Amino acid sequence: MFKGVLFDLDGVITDTAEYHYQAWKKLGSEIGIVIDRTFNEQLKGVSREDSLTRMLEYGGKTGVFTSEEFAELAARKNKNYVEMIQKVSPNDVYPGILELLKDLKQAEIKISLASASKNGPFLLKQMALTDYFDGIADPAKVKAGKPAPDIFIEAAEIVGLTPEQCIGIEDAQAGIAAIKASGALPIGVGQAEQLGEDIPLVASTKELTIGYLKDCWQ
Ligand code: BG6
Ligand code: MG
Repeated sequence: MFKGVLFDLDGVITDTAEYHYQAWKKLGSEIGIVIDRTFNEQLKGVSREDSLTRMLEYGGKTGVFTSEEFAELAARKNKNYVEMIQKVSPNDVYPGILELLKDLKQAEIKISLASASKNGPFLLKQMALTDYFDGIADPAKVKAGKPAPDIFIEAAEIVGLTPEQCIGIEDAQAGIAAIKASGALPIGVGQAEQLGEDIPLVASTKELTIGYLKDCWQ
């Protein structure tokens, strides 16, 4: 049996992936880069700085901004995003997630956060979920962001496990790649078109029951 579950946050525990998209879209419109949902799939799971780098590349603006301007753009996106998430509450937790966290706790399976977001701890607090987590990996401490496996390895280690003993749950292409590279078993939230045909997928977090996780593990 698996001994831990490594959770992504944005787009898995709640709908903040949408807010990230809106915030990047707004920043883009301010600097003359139009992004759509198809391109946004490449930003999901990716760190703030790496997202901005990808967006500038997409818009043909690589090298246009100085490092100070780059930092200002990243901060501006975050300021806008942070404003959007102030009202996140326990009502915003995706269906089935609270039940899953409770069932995992009951079964003494470790719960760890493997989010690339520096706003993760704030969001868990807003949703009253902090106490369910045995560990929260700090994205500021890991060397390489998703799709590198580092954050999933860290999330497993801080709860005393190896990735091989864990399931990882993700909604992002970069996140699934990171889980695979870490050695944990991936489960995707989303469609095969974005996340691939080769892993178990759920269309809704409602399907993420402890029974479903056990089936995937076998
Ligand atoms: C990930 C999101 O969870 O966190 C990305 O999927 C986001 O969209 C990344 O860029 C970093 O988040 P933050 O809140 O630190 O800018
Ligand atoms: Mg995500």
